[in-house]
Amino acid sequence: MRLTSFLLTVCLSSVAVSHALSLFGSDQQVLDDELAVPGDNPLFYCQSTDENILLIDYVDLTPNPPEAGKTLTIKAHGNFTESVEEGAYMLLQVKYGLITLIKQQADLCEQMSNVDEDCPLSGEKTITKDVDLPATVPPGKYTVTADVYTKDDQQIICLTATVHFGGK
Ligand SMILES: *[C@@H]1O[C@H](CO)[C@@H](O)[C@H](O)[C@H]1NC(C)=O
Repeated sequence: MRLTSFLLTVCLSSVAVSHALSLFGSDQQVLDDELAVPGDNPLFYCQSTDENILLIDYVDLTPNPPEAGKTLTIKAHGNFTESVEEGAYMLLQVKYGLITLIKQQADLCEQMSNVDEDCPLSGEKTITKDVDLPATVPPGKYTVTADVYTKDDQQIICLTATVHFGGK
């Protein structure tokens, strides 16, 4: 589940990390520029960030867009403006065209351990991660969304990206 691990890491660490990044291009001009996540990346916020607990300073991908078969380096910096406790969760969805490939809930704190962070999460975090991308990915249009909440259903962050993979 490379797409899943992508979403998890991105949201959690305000950062980003995953094999599915290989799918992402910069192909979402239809969305407002003000919803673009700062940094060298293909991510967008799902909606206004006014109520978000996690504020992202930047997410940088090298190379951007990621390339299949190459190592992707992800560096991100953000600020948890409130302490995020155990019980926080993420709703992950991956669509391939109109077809829902993945729709599931994941434990935020559990996933954060993959980037060497533990709950409670608070204050500034900088995360760097190298990911070896698979050499091949099925071609088509992918839409990935990760919606993250505290255990009391307060919005932490929501990120989305759409990519056409394998086309010209
Ligand atoms: C991070 O958020 C806290 C709480 O809102 C704030 O006090 C602090 O100044 C922020 N840090 C940065 C670098 O913005």
